[in-house]
This record gives sequence, C-alpha cells and structure tokens, in this order.
Amino acid sequence: MSMNLVTLLYLAASVCFIQALKGLSHPTTSIRGNLFGMTGMAIAVLTTAALIVELSGQGKGMVWVLLGLVAGGAYGAWRAKTVEMTKMPELVAFFHSMIGLAAVFIAVAAVTEPHALLQGLAKGDPIPGGNRLELFLGAAIGAITFSGSVIAWGKLSGTYKFRLFQGAPVVFAGQHKLNLVLGLLTVALGLGFVATQHGAFFYGMLALAFVMGVLIIIPIGGADMPVVVSMLNSYSGWAAAGIGFSLNNSMLIIAGSLVGSSGAILSYIMCKAMNRSFFNVILGGFGGEAGQAAAGGAVQRSVKSGSADDAAFILGNAETVIIVPGYGLAVARAQHAVKELALKLTEHGVNVRYAIHPVAGRMPGHMNVLLAEAEVPYDQVFEMEDINAEFGQADVAIILGANDVVNPAALQKGSPIYGMPILEAYKAKTVIVNKRSMAAGYAGLDNELFYMDKTMMVFGDAKKVVEDMVKAIE
Ligand code: TAP
Repeated sequence: MSMNLVTLLYLAASVCFIQALKGLSHPTTSIRGNLFGMTGMAIAVLTTAALIVELSGQGKGMVWVLLGLVAGGAYGAWRAKTVEMTKMPELVAFFHSMIGLAAVFIAVAAVTEPHALLQGLAKGDPIPGGNRLELFLGAAIGAITFSGSVIAWGKLSGTYKFRLFQGAPVVFAGQHKLNLVLGLLTVALGLGFVATQHGAFFYGMLALAFVMGVLIIIPIGGADMPVVVSMLNSYSGWAAAGIGFSLNNSMLIIAGSLVGSSGAILSYIMCKAMNRSFFNVILGGFGGEAGQAAAGGAVQRSVKSGSADDAAFILGNAETVIIVPGYGLAVARAQHAVKELALKLTEHGVNVRYAIHPVAGRMPGHMNVLLAEAEVPYDQVFEMEDINAEFGQADVAIILGANDVVNPAALQKGSPIYGMPILEAYKAKTVIVNKRSMAAGYAGLDNELFYMDKTMMVFGDAKKVVEDMVKAIE
C-alpha cells in the first residue's frame, strides 16, 4: 500500500470524524453523525491494520493486533448495548482510561525500541529531541488521563467501598502544595528525558504522572465528575495527538486534536451552564454532598402536596403546559410514560412543550437523549433560551425529577448556585413538582419553589406518578 493511499484514506477518515461531530450537534442529525463516526473509525482501523501487515512483513504480529481488535471491539459493543443511560458517564470514564493507557504503552514501546516505531531511525540511533518532547508529553498526559479516569470511574459508579472511589471529596492539609511540587517534579524529569534520553528520567516521570492523576481527581466531589470526565476526554485527545506526532501518524494527530478541543469546549459549556469556573471545579470540594437532606432540612417547613389524580385534573384543565425533565426522570426511566402523558394532554387540546436545561441530568444532552429514546417529537422540545420567556404565560409548569435547574436560589446573591441560569418555572401560573421526598438535588440546596403558594408537590417515583396521571386523564 503506497503512503499516498494511506494519507488519502486517513484524510477520508478525518473528514468523516468532522462530519460526525457536526451531525452530533443536533438530535435530528445525530444518527447520521454516528454513522459518519463509525465509517471514519472503520477506515482508520482497517488502514492501520493494512499498514501494520505491510511494515511488519508477512503479517508478523498481526495475530496480536487481531486479538486486540476482536477482544476490544466485542467488549465495547457489549457495554454500549447494555449500559443504562444513567451509567453512561461511568462508561465514558472507563473508555478514556483505556485511551490514556494506550498512549502510555505506545510511548513506552517507542522509548524502548525507537527504531521499530519512529520513522527513519536505525537500531541504536538516538531519538531526535523533538520526538522525545512529544513522547514525554504524550506519556505524561496519557498516564494522568489513565489514573484520573480510573478514580472518576470509581466515584461515578458509587458502588465500591474503596476510600478513593467514594463520592465525597478526599482532602488533606497541604494538598495543593503537594500537587504543585509533584507537577514541577514531573516536568523536571520529563525535561531530563528530553535532554538525555535516559530511561530513568522517563519512567520516573511516568510514575509521578500516574500519582498526579489520582491526586488531581480525589478532591473533586462525585457529582462534579461529568465535568471531570469531559476534561479527561480532552486530555485523552491531546495524549493521542502527542503520540501521533512521534509516530508521524496524521490520523492520530487529527483525531486526537478533534477529541482534545471538543472535550475542552464541552467542559467550558458545562461550567458556564453551572456558573462555575473551571478552576472551581478542578480545585474540588463542591458537589460531594449530593443526595443529602436539603440545607434547610433542619427546619421543617410545610409544603402543599397532592396526588397524581389532583395533578392530572389541573393538567387536563390547562391550555398550555411546560414539562421540565430532570435527573430524577432519568433515574425513574419515566421518559415513555411522559411521552404518553403529553400525548393524552395534546388529545385534550392542551399545548404541551418540554423545556431542557443545558445541565439537566448528569451528562451533556442527557434529557435530549432520553426524550429522543421515547420518540418525543423534536418540535415540542425547547432549549432554555428559547422557552424561558414562555413560562410567564404557561398555565402549568410540571417539574419531573428536576431540582437545581429550576431553583430560584440561583437569582439570590450569596447562594452557592448564584448566577447559574435556570428554567423560570416559578413564573408559571401553577407549578407541579414530582420527586420522591424533600431531599436536595445535586447542589445540596433547599428549593424555594417547592414552598410557593402556587406549587403542588406530588411525591413518588416519577414513572409511577406519571403513569397514574395518564390513567387519571383517561
Ligand atoms: P438534581 O438537582 O440533581 O435533582 C434531581 C431530583 O430528582 C432530586 O431532587 C431527587 O429528589 C429527584 N429524584 C431522584 N430520583 C427520582 C425518582 N425516581 N423519581 C422522581 N424524582 C426523583 O437534577 P437536575 O435538576 O436535573 O439538575 C442537574 C444538576 O446536576 C445540576 O445541579 C447540574 O449543575 C448538575 N450537573 C449536571 C451536569 C450535566 S452535564 N448534566 C454535569 C455536572 C453537574 P428525591 O430524592 O426527593 O426524589
């Protein structure tokens, strides 16, 4: 296979990846985007496999490549098929850890046998200075991505007793100073490797980078993990791009840069939608208390509560209803029941729309994906900036398993979520809130909306409550 053909195929794969990102930016084009992504990846993998056969002569070592492809491909397909929507960030964290580890392995192989991996080198030739720098950066970022992603994965799964996998931030005196010292040492050892090509510097740097990955992630609360996962996504892309430069592989450089920059943009968008600075997230200590009783829980305050039948009666008599889905809807897997409810209301002549907050749920696009799964028509689904002005005229805002994204505390100076843009459900004429208890949401805050005169709480699991509402409307 000529190198021109390889370059052409890699270019075709890169164009597919760019089209994939473009397609994934909207639910209506996301399936096409995924198809582009799969096609691009198939071209990239097959071209690389063919290249390995050609470079190694008679396919020596191809068995290992095939084994990796079959084992990794089968595991990935099985996990993607069986994963629950709420466990998606955890799966993504696991995949990132693998990318980081792959970057480390390639770097180690290139440092051990440079002539086998780096172009134009004969056995015994020194690694050029530029390549050493790329290997240092790729390996360091890969190692941080690997160990950091493993901690993020453990925190997100929340099922392991191991202290470092607990959702609560792990903090100790002098933590930031220790991180700084270790960071500087990692850079110093890396530069030592660049200057001398000494293996001791490289492996010392690598060991410190693995430790750094753990130390950077442990002070961050479990609930902040989605931002961390997208940040690690970005790191994994840069690690791949760094290694791509060393191997002179344009595919890795392009795909790595796409992942690196899209992950960084996504982290920025998420931080902006939560009104938190990136550094505030990274320095940790927020979001570890998720699931606790509301901050005001010590003082018992009364709320108006009603049954699913009461809610159905109010909804059936409304002209306009806005549904606000949140994390609880995903936990209850109530999306199909909600679609049924909307259908019934529409049949009764009610105008029904859905309002989506950019960080409702626990991952970007969480609510869009859920509603798309239930085949909710896209023209009923509105983003926050398009629907906020409509709440004032809505007869009913019905909030299903959402809390922080409708919390008016965001409007009050001094609140931990002050400045976070919210869905203005409090402006609707009547507000119906479904959740299981008065427990707080992700930010651990009480929600004034629940205590307003026009608010009726309907306690219970979202799926059961919405199904009861559907029955009552029938
Ligand atoms: P939350 O504020 O976490 O509130 C979810 C509510 O759902 C809880 O108050 C819970 O109350 C209720 N709930 C849980 N299970 C339920 C069930 N089975 N049936 C009915 N209700 C149930 O969710 P939100 O309003 O969607 O806000 C998302 C939060 O996550 C924001 O603070 C956001 O900043 C944060 N966050 C999001 C992202 C992304 S990208 N989406 C990333 C990082 C952080 P009960 O326990 O009383 O039922």
